[in-house]
Amino acid sequence: MAKKKILITRRLPAAVEARARATYDVTQHADDRQITLDEMLETAKSMDALLITLAEKCRKDVIDRMPDNMKCLSTFSIGFDHIDLEACKAKGIRVGNAPHGVTIATCEIAMLLMLGAARRAGDGERLLRSREWTGWAPLQLLGRRLDGKKLGIYGFGKIGQGLAKFARAFDMEIHYYDIYRQPPEKEKALGATYHSSLDSLLEISEFFSINAPSTPENRHFFNASVIEKMPKGAIVVNTARGDLVNDDDLIAALKSGRLGGAGLDVFNGEPKINPGYYDLDNTFLLPHLGSAAIEAREQMGFEALDNIDAFFGGKDMPFKLA
Ligand code: DGY
Repeated sequence: MAKKKILITRRLPAAVEARARATYDVTQHADDRQITLDEMLETAKSMDALLITLAEKCRKDVIDRMPDNMKCLSTFSIGFDHIDLEACKAKGIRVGNAPHGVTIATCEIAMLLMLGAARRAGDGERLLRSREWTGWAPLQLLGRRLDGKKLGIYGFGKIGQGLAKFARAFDMEIHYYDIYRQPPEKEKALGATYHSSLDSLLEISEFFSINAPSTPENRHFFNASVIEKMPKGAIVVNTARGDLVNDDDLIAALKSGRLGGAGLDVFNGEPKINPGYYDLDNTFLLPHLGSAAIEAREQMGFEALDNIDAFFGGKDMPFKLA
């Protein structure tokens, strides 16, 4: 029987591509360039499934233009804010994501951002690379320790909980807010205190980590009025999505010292980020590296392929979104 044809929009780890090619007739651009949505839609006409990434924004207008033969979409990401699920459902397109591979890698990056922002790692790197470091000094680049500090985690799913575990090893005090409260045993195991409102979490958060998915309800929630409720000098980190933050408000708070620092891995409008961040010394910035560990990217690829395998096997996708 002829192999099913799938388009994989970007190059993926070798083990993932090998598995995909063993089962499917794979179309990919060898040069790993970002294809346009028009190219994706055109290629989809001769494909049986699409394996996309978070860079292909499958909004309603794109899904509406999807050729009728295309009924299977799997994304190489936990996030699915780039896909209009309602539009997919309306067209009978099955959709799945890759929800587990990212967890540990993203928790690691959240810790790195907290440490980087609190201990002024960005400043230190810049100083060294400027070739103008004059040597050790008692008051040079003083930051703050993490131990004993209250960490407020906004969004307590797998990544929020994983971060709690890591942060406990640094003797941080864990607090969280989520629309779902965890059972008492879980809270006890993680040493986590639940807050029934975001305001209550904000008031105590000396460190604040954004770990919730981006939805129409919370988009740009991290704004001036939210910042106003936090302790002065607090440090915020974001490994979730850039559009959870109002950039102008965050930049103003970092400039004025209302916030002590920020560690950011995700940005509005990536890769063209708000230029206000570039010259702020109290930021520690990474280019969306949350899941950029080979172990994570392999697992993400396998999860994305599991969805496609299930679709062609006439089964429910294991990581079904629609
Ligand atoms: C995801 O999987 O949504 C992450 O943002 C990728 O790093």
